[in-house]
Amino acid sequence: MARLGVNIDHVATVRQARGTMSPDPVAAAAIAELAGADGITVHLREDRRHIQDRDVELLRRTVQTSLNLEMACTDEIVAIANKLRPDCVTLVPEKRQELTTEGGLNVVGAALSLGRHIESMQENGIVVSLFIDPDLEQIDAAMQLGADAIEIHTGSYCDAPSRGARQAELVKVQTAIHAARQAGIAVNAGHGLNYNNIIPVVALGGIDEFNIGHSIIARAVLVGLERAVREMKELLAG
Ligand code: PXP
Repeated sequence: MARLGVNIDHVATVRQARGTMSPDPVAAAAIAELAGADGITVHLREDRRHIQDRDVELLRRTVQTSLNLEMACTDEIVAIANKLRPDCVTLVPEKRQELTTEGGLNVVGAALSLGRHIESMQENGIVVSLFIDPDLEQIDAAMQLGADAIEIHTGSYCDAPSRGARQAELVKVQTAIHAARQAGIAVNAGHGLNYNNIIPVVALGGIDEFNIGHSIIARAVLVGLERAVREMKELLAG
């Protein structure tokens, strides 16, 4: 069964809306773990729009499963990762104006600094995953860079405008899973997944971990975080 990484960024989004102390993402992480989450994911953005440095520091000390730090590959954020040493980092592209991460990282012909940063984090015992589109060239480039894992960007699948387009995107995801498995690197997936559209992706098999945020936190507002996490775990069981 695939692991479930719960992205708690949007707990921090609600807190930041009022600049208060609650809801605290550190408390949310503990509840998600008690409900069965296999890992906690946070994105420390350069603009600090939701998760703050304090959150990552406290989560590093309190998360008992596995802490995955989503981040842009910049000198500043890489230095923070190397200091705090999360279990895993997922490198993502980041634009200031975007509502959320808009696409996968382009690692084909990537800057030399990317490989250097990956190596420095791996030397600190951090597993490095690259968030990429389900594209064979990107997977090949991720391998060349020595990534430990890829996270397949499922956004195009989730946002496909028709049943046919969605099916075509699902085939791309399936092909990417196969290629990454052949290459021997771990396969994660995420972005835009919810309680309905995840079912065909789970059925593909071959995914080690799903990273899911918005749909779980949105459901948690209505039914509670414990139940929202548990229900997603049940879907991962197939
Ligand atoms: N994986 C990555 C790399 C992401 O950037 C995000 C969004 O922060 C997610 C997974 C989770 O996406 P969603 O909030 O749509 O579930």
